[in-house]
Formats: sequence, structure tokens, C-alpha cells
Amino acid sequence: MSAHAPSAPTPLSALQRRFHAVRDQSLALAAPLSEADCQVQSMPDASPTKWHLAHTTWFFETFILERAEPGFQPFDPAYRVLFNSYYQGVGDQHPRPQRGLITRPGMAEVRAYRAQVDARIARLFAQGLAPEMVTLVELGLQHEQQHQELLLTDIKHLLSCNPTDPVYHPPRLPAPAVPQPLRWCAFEGGVGEIGHGGEGFAFDNESPRHAVLLRPFALADRLVTQGEWRAFMDDGGYSDPRWWMAAGWDWLRAQRIAAPLYWHKNEEAGSDPAPQDGWTAFTLHGRVPIDPHAPVVHISWFEADAYARWCAAQQGAPVRLPTEAEWEHAACSLGGHWADGGNFQDSGALHPMPLAHGADNEPGLQQMGGDVWEWTASAYLPYPGYRPWAGAVGEYNGKFMVNQMVLRGGSCATPRDHIRASYRNFFPTEARWQFSGLRLAQDL
Ligand code: AVJ
Ligand code: FE
Repeated sequence: MSAHAPSAPTPLSALQRRFHAVRDQSLALAAPLSEADCQVQSMPDASPTKWHLAHTTWFFETFILERAEPGFQPFDPAYRVLFNSYYQGVGDQHPRPQRGLITRPGMAEVRAYRAQVDARIARLFAQGLAPEMVTLVELGLQHEQQHQELLLTDIKHLLSCNPTDPVYHPPRLPAPAVPQPLRWCAFEGGVGEIGHGGEGFAFDNESPRHAVLLRPFALADRLVTQGEWRAFMDDGGYSDPRWWMAAGWDWLRAQRIAAPLYWHKNEEAGSDPAPQDGWTAFTLHGRVPIDPHAPVVHISWFEADAYARWCAAQQGAPVRLPTEAEWEHAACSLGGHWADGGNFQDSGALHPMPLAHGADNEPGLQQMGGDVWEWTASAYLPYPGYRPWAGAVGEYNGKFMVNQMVLRGGSCATPRDHIRASYRNFFPTEARWQFSGLRLAQDL
């Protein structure tokens, strides 16, 4: 890795403890699943659970054991291609859309693979790791945490394909919610700074820290809710081309999109009206009525952008999605508290929650961290002066900096200790199987 790779390395014992905690957590996420659940790939964008468990192990084997172990022998030479996601510098890859066709190795062998690689990493720890290997172990853990979130979103998509609405884990009841009017938090214009500048781990795409020009803007104090999304739908939002980018309009017509992913309207609910007129959503705890106070989730960038444009027309105000610079500037105004109380993977809810308290909330930004990733108006591009990490790990982020948009803040599937205010997630404009939602901004 290059000069701006993570600076102050974590003490070895802390890193070793974190290694086992993160590796165990991946297995804990797979624990409620059957062998069949872990096998199937529901769409090309999603991967089987078994593949996630093997690929994250492949990452440690390929980038650490192969370099650090004298006389390295692979667990199985076939895994080098089978579980390589996209690293051309490592060699060939099994085609992504066919990951679900790999019935062998089975889960037992993948568990054995994980156990062996973990033991070999533990041996390296005992021998004392070279500094560049410490950095790669930290990268391997951050990588595994990204795959924990993908494992959850991919298993949610798979289970949603089953008309019996399987339950991944029991529901955790949300705190009683009181609707909260949207309030705007104003920020002055000027020259600000964004990007990773401090201690600790960050991905290469968060650097270098650099100056940005901000015009006076306001950020909504909370996320857009499902009730507000219903108003957009009821006003014909999905059938009015005025709100949509041309590519988004083509996309929604071709895909017949008329509601967020996982929403379903029970047309027979007419005689005995269910909550929200029969609208329900599939969640990791089964199918539930739409909660109007919970944040809207599983929308594409096209939908988030169209909603903002509809809102601007409704309110006669210059409402839009925030840029990533505005989002980060606002988050950093909260200092180290920007994600306090956020609903992350650690809460176990695995679903976005309504704000717990109501109109008596102190004014200020809420839900910046956790619940849903927030789509921004910013294309995923290199920061000025960006340099990818050296070697094959340089393929990690840099080669995806085209045709994708940035999301900020983390979600209910993100581990709390994985996210930062400078963290840049990215997905294409039509992706909606991640826990993606939005917060509005406006020009002042
Ligand atoms: C940052 C979530 C877009 O899904 O490819 C996993 C994360 N990078 N392995 C992705 C990632 C390498 C990445 N996202
Ligand atoms: Fe990966």
C-alpha cells in the first residue's frame, strides 16, 4: 500500500481480538440459515452466503498467508479462482452470475477452510506480524465487515423470493414512534474540508483530504419516512415523468417499478382495511405492515432523486439530494457524536427504526449514522490527488469509479465500528437491494 495507507497501527493484541470477533460474527450471521439458504444466488448482483464466507477467507489467504508464510501451500488450489471476486492482478475469476452453481465445496468444507486460515493467521500473530501485514489484516477485517452487510442484504433478497415470507430472525419491536415534523439545519457557505485526515483505518477512496467549496445549504434533520413516500406514490410520483431522469424513467417503465423494493399491496385488503391500505414490506423478520414513521428503505438513486424533485415542486423550494461534501461537512459538525445512538448491525434489529422520540427532540441532525445508507447527489469519483493502493489491492475501490453514486452514513446492517464520517459507499443508480434511503437538502 502507498504512503497514505492507514497510519497508526492498532496494537497487535487488540487487532488479534478484533480478528476473531469479526470472523466469528460472519459465522453468527450465517447460523440461522440452512445449507440450501447458503447455496442459492437469487440474482447476479447478490452472492450466496457460502460464497461470502469463502471469499472473505480467500482474501486473508491470498493477500496475507501467501506473502507472509514461507513455503505457503493453499488450502485448495481451486479456490484461487472460485473465490476471487474481481482481482485481475491475482488471476482468473469464476463468473459472478454463476456463484450459486458452485455446490462443491459445501458449507462443511468452507467452515474447515475458515478454521484453517484463522489458525494460520493466529500463528502469524504469535510470530509477530510485519507492519505491512498488520495493515493488510486490518484491511481484511474491514473487507469482511463489508461482506457481512452484503451477506444480510443478499440473504434478504433470496428469502424475499419465497412466497411463504421466511423469517431470518425474530422481530425486535421498535420503540413507540411519534411523528416528527421535518426541520431544516442550516449551514453557512465557505471553504470546507472533506476526506479522511485522522488516525486509524480508512479506505483509499476517502483520501486525500481536500478543500471543497460549499454554498449555503440546509440539511433535513431526519430521514424521509415511509409515510412521506406513500404521499409521493399517492400523488402519482411513479407515473409522472417530470420527476425522473431520462434513464430512470426508462428503468422504471422497463422494470414496472411503482413502489420500493419488497413492498407489496394486498388488493383483497379492501373490505377489512389493513394498516396502510394493505401495503406490507418484506423484512428480515418476515412480512410486516408499512410503518409510516420508519425511514423509507430499498429505493434506488433514481427514486431518491425523483422524490427530491417532486418535493421541490410541492414546497416551491430548491429541495434536492445533498452532495457528499455537504453530508460530510454536516456530519462532522457533530464531532465524534455524529453516529451516536444509531441503529447499526450491532442493535440486532436489522431493519430501519422510526425515531424513538417525538416533537420534543432537541433540534439538530438525527439518524446520520445507521438505519439507512443515504443516497447523495455525488457521482463516485476519485478525490483530487487520489492514488489507489499499490499492487492487486489497488483494484479494491479505484476501478469502480464510474457510473455509480455515493451513499453515506451506514445502515442497520453495517457494523458500528466499520463506519466513519468520511466513509464512501457506492452503488449504481438502479440498485435497491441495499438498505438505501434518503435525507433531503436544499439551497439557502
Ligand atoms: C463498497 C459495498 C460497493 O459491494 O463490492 C466487497 C464492498 N469491496 N469486496 C462491493 C466490497 C470488495 C463493495 N461496496
Ligand atoms: Fe470482496
